[in-house]
Amino acid sequence: MVTVITAFFRKMIPELSNPSVCMKDPQRVQKVLQSIAEAGANKLQVISDFDMTLTRFSYNGKRCPTCHNILDNSRAISSECKQKLADLLKTYYPIEIDTSLSVEEKLPLMVEWWTKAHDLLVEQKVRKDQLAEAVHESEARLRDGYEFFFNHLHKHDVPLLIFSAGIGDILEEVIRHFNVFLSNVKIFSNYMDFDESGTLRAFKGELIHVYNKREGALLNTGHFQELRTRPNVLLLGDSIGDLNMADGVQDMQNILKIGFLNDKVEERKQTYLDSYDIVLVKDETMDVPNAIVLYLT
Ligand code: TMP
Ligand code: MG
Repeated sequence: MVTVITAFFRKMIPELSNPSVCMKDPQRVQKVLQSIAEAGANKLQVISDFDMTLTRFSYNGKRCPTCHNILDNSRAISSECKQKLADLLKTYYPIEIDTSLSVEEKLPLMVEWWTKAHDLLVEQKVRKDQLAEAVHESEARLRDGYEFFFNHLHKHDVPLLIFSAGIGDILEEVIRHFNVFLSNVKIFSNYMDFDESGTLRAFKGELIHVYNKREGALLNTGHFQELRTRPNVLLLGDSIGDLNMADGVQDMQNILKIGFLNDKVEERKQTYLDSYDIVLVKDETMDVPNAIVLYLT
């Protein structure tokens, strides 16, 4: 796949010629970018996945944790339970990213993974006051350049929806830890339900896993109704399931989808090129999203 970089990109968004960038249809990307930029920042909304999209996939050759991993690896969890959670990850993560299985085939297995993991966390009687410590002691890292991404969107009053199948309470703690839980940020995720003593007793509401973000979006029509005057969408994800995060957007006019391809690159590259407008291969930075956000606002 050879990506033809047009004169427009070279001049306006030189980061799109970075070696990590792949595009199937650069002309479409240019057209959509120009339409969104022309309409201006007050017509734009950003929807982003969290784990492995806003957070790094690896650092110094070591995998970085997801929201679930942050808690799983913390002192709040017994070593016996840690082993069980690690076994679940070993069983189900390869299924999540397996290109030989259809989304329909993966669906029940993803529900099984999330349900088993959440049941184990409830059994551990995790306390609310253990979450901040778990995050502070973890190796969680947002992608390089995250400060510009969050602060620039905030400065231009562009709403940022973080739509995550992770754990909302942990996610909030991570962005608070990095000082980017700003007023334009809204989160859809799995939130913990604590009893009056602050002990985890269940998860609230409908479960969000990697492949049911469409249903999650449609349950939150109120949010998208509020943003109906913003018909242009910038979407960021790392999973094929993330492509459905914008399914609740009302009166959508333009959407530009940026996908981080972190793992199993050769097997998945064609699928990502067919689904995302811009694919970032093994890119641990926000350089390209930042350049795009700057161009659009
Ligand atoms: P995301 O929607 O923010 O990317 O979060 C989903 C990720 O969480 C997904 O890639 C798998 C991961 N995950 C774990 O790491 N451990 C778990 O126990 C579960 C249920 C999910
Ligand atoms: Mg993700």
